[in-house]
Amino acid sequence: MKLKKPKMLEIEKNSKFSERVLVLSAPAAVVFTMLTMFDFLSPLSAVLSYLAIVIFNLIFLSPLTLELQRLKTYINNLSEGDYNQAVKLSDNEAQEIAEAVRSLHYFFVAKIDALEAKAMSDTAVLDTLPDPIIMIDRSGNVLGANHAASLLFGTHITEQTIEKTISSQTFIEAVRKVLKEESESESLVFSAPAPISKKLYTHIKKLPWLSKGRAMAVISLYDLTKALKIEKMQSDFVANASHELRTPLSVISGFIETLQTSAKDDETAREQFLSIMAEQASFMSALIENLLSLSKIEMSQDTPPTTKADLSKVIVEVVDALAFKAKSRDMQIVVEKPKRLSKIVADESQIKQLIQNLTDNAIKYGLSQSEIKISVKPADKIPPSKSFNVAEGKAVAVSINNKGPKISPQDLARLTERFYRLQEHKDLGIKGTGLGLSIAKQIIMRHKGNLTVSSNTANGITFTVYLPVELK
Ligand SMILES: Nc1ncnc2c1ncn2[C@@H]1O[C@H](COP(=O)(O)OP(=O)(O)O)[C@@H](O)[C@H]1O
Ligand SMILES: [Mg+2]
Repeated sequence: MKLKKPKMLEIEKNSKFSERVLVLSAPAAVVFTMLTMFDFLSPLSAVLSYLAIVIFNLIFLSPLTLELQRLKTYINNLSEGDYNQAVKLSDNEAQEIAEAVRSLHYFFVAKIDALEAKAMSDTAVLDTLPDPIIMIDRSGNVLGANHAASLLFGTHITEQTIEKTISSQTFIEAVRKVLKEESESESLVFSAPAPISKKLYTHIKKLPWLSKGRAMAVISLYDLTKALKIEKMQSDFVANASHELRTPLSVISGFIETLQTSAKDDETAREQFLSIMAEQASFMSALIENLLSLSKIEMSQDTPPTTKADLSKVIVEVVDALAFKAKSRDMQIVVEKPKRLSKIVADESQIKQLIQNLTDNAIKYGLSQSEIKISVKPADKIPPSKSFNVAEGKAVAVSINNKGPKISPQDLARLTERFYRLQEHKDLGIKGTGLGLSIAKQIIMRHKGNLTVSSNTANGITFTVYLPVELK
């Protein structure tokens, strides 16, 4: 850093050595003139004596003035940042002054450097905080804002008042209370109107020192939107889970009661009931497993995948795992994929779960003795979605097709809703939790991909999953 030249080091520039000598010799001139006037001294002796005094002053003052000149140059150079110059003055006192000035100078340079470093590190720390922090003056003008605040409210935030930045009445009232010193601090939850449109928690605190600057209060904000979303997800999860679990549970308790009473000694009924109870119990555990899986994927929604997944390998594993189930319905799974399929940025275990859910459905709901076709193709882009963001750039499209009756567009649109199942499949007694496609959709959303479904009488139903090659 470079120090500004301090004013106090400006030494009088016009003081000339000769002038000083003349000034010092002036009283002697007056005395000699008087002495000559009263005839105590002859004019010649007076002039000679005066000259002697001038010469004496010249000899006596010249080294001192020279030292002063050197000292002045030294201080001037120091103030301009030349720290390495050597100072060697013959006069001891002048040398001591030079040393004192030098250490004073170093002291201030070190102090300013430390202050500058501290200010820089404080700003850096504030900028790394994920939550917005704003500093305001007595009139509510925004004096400073960290990076998170500029991101949320825009970079022009420091050019306006806090009222303009966040126009919520309850918030402004809380700020006013602190600025008018009616309260030391205020905390509240409020809804920031558009264009921010967020539920925020704020803490407004009057600065604890009598600031010499203009800063009066610090406002910290915390975005509650995400926390509220998680809270809602959790309560929905509990509501759905308990609702869905109640049905099999009431079936099981009904049979237990029958076995304890009317069917107590009925051997055949007991066998039959126990097998139904076992089936219901296994359905309950499948339901719990699906619900947990769904909630886990929902929780991971905000952390995009970073690992690589081998789609080719995943498809082979899924087909192997479901081969037996397909055979039991006399179905064949045919895979069509390019010989070389490069890896994609994805969570491999989630991609496997996704392909498995879709293939499992194809086996469950497809026509028996028909063919299931899984085909993988490169895609130039992912078709956009109205409800979530899809990634840009190259993608792969995995289509899973099975034969079967045409499904109405209204039903197609609702297939990924939680617990939604087609009535015809419920009527046929095909077991299912109605969560497989919701799980698939959540996985696709996390990967910024998309899912399309089409159905017609000739080709049955086709689910196409688009996954980005890289997440951008
Ligand atoms: N390949 C398919 N062919 C016909 N209908 C399907 C297909 N896949 C899903 N469905 C319908 O969508 C519903 C929801 O599927 P899903 O979420 O996987 O739940 P589940 O399979 O447990 O019922 C199914 O119950 C079924 O009615
Ligand atoms: Mg399913």
